[in-house]
Amino acid sequence: MTHLVLIGLMGAGKTSVGRRCAATLGRTFVDTDEVVEAIAGMSVADIFGAEGESGFRARERAAVADACAAPEASVISCGGGAVLDADNRSQLRAHGFVVWLDAPPDVLAVRVAGDTARPLLASGDRHTTLQRLARLRGPVYESTAHVRIDTTELDEDAVTERVLVAFAGGEGA
Ligand code: S3P
Repeated sequence: MTHLVLIGLMGAGKTSVGRRCAATLGRTFVDTDEVVEAIAGMSVADIFGAEGESGFRARERAAVADACAAPEASVISCGGGAVLDADNRSQLRAHGFVVWLDAPPDVLAVRVAGDTARPLLASGDRHTTLQRLARLRGPVYESTAHVRIDTTELDEDAVTERVLVAFAGGEGA
């Protein structure tokens, strides 16, 4: 049994699409940010404030390892930066079918407009930040994913459908 794993930048739709995929597949949904927040008893933004990004990343690494090690196959949505860690990448690929939800920075900037929960978008111009992250992380998402889905023109239902079709075709392949 293989986990279905969603990766991609902030605003890509990982959490909402992951939730829908889990409901359709009858699987448990695991969002690594939610796990980190539940264990810390703090929001992601407060963890960044209290422990720095490195403290958050250590917590995220533990959440990814636990999710991958779970015996029951689930749907796992990863925080956008989880793939920066080499252990996370190998765990996710070893135990999951990894789907990259992709969209250009200008589309993502619209989707995260008004969001106040993401510390990496708290200061500076969001579009510029997302452009920088896309440049840095694009190759990492690409090498970690089994499949890339361009979500630019798609609503959440359509993305969910594409993910499930890709998963049905790729699971166990
Ligand atoms: C981050 C993405 C966030 C969260 C944290 C850092 C990132 O998750 O993990 O704010 O480095 O891209 P989402 O991608 O679910 O917004």
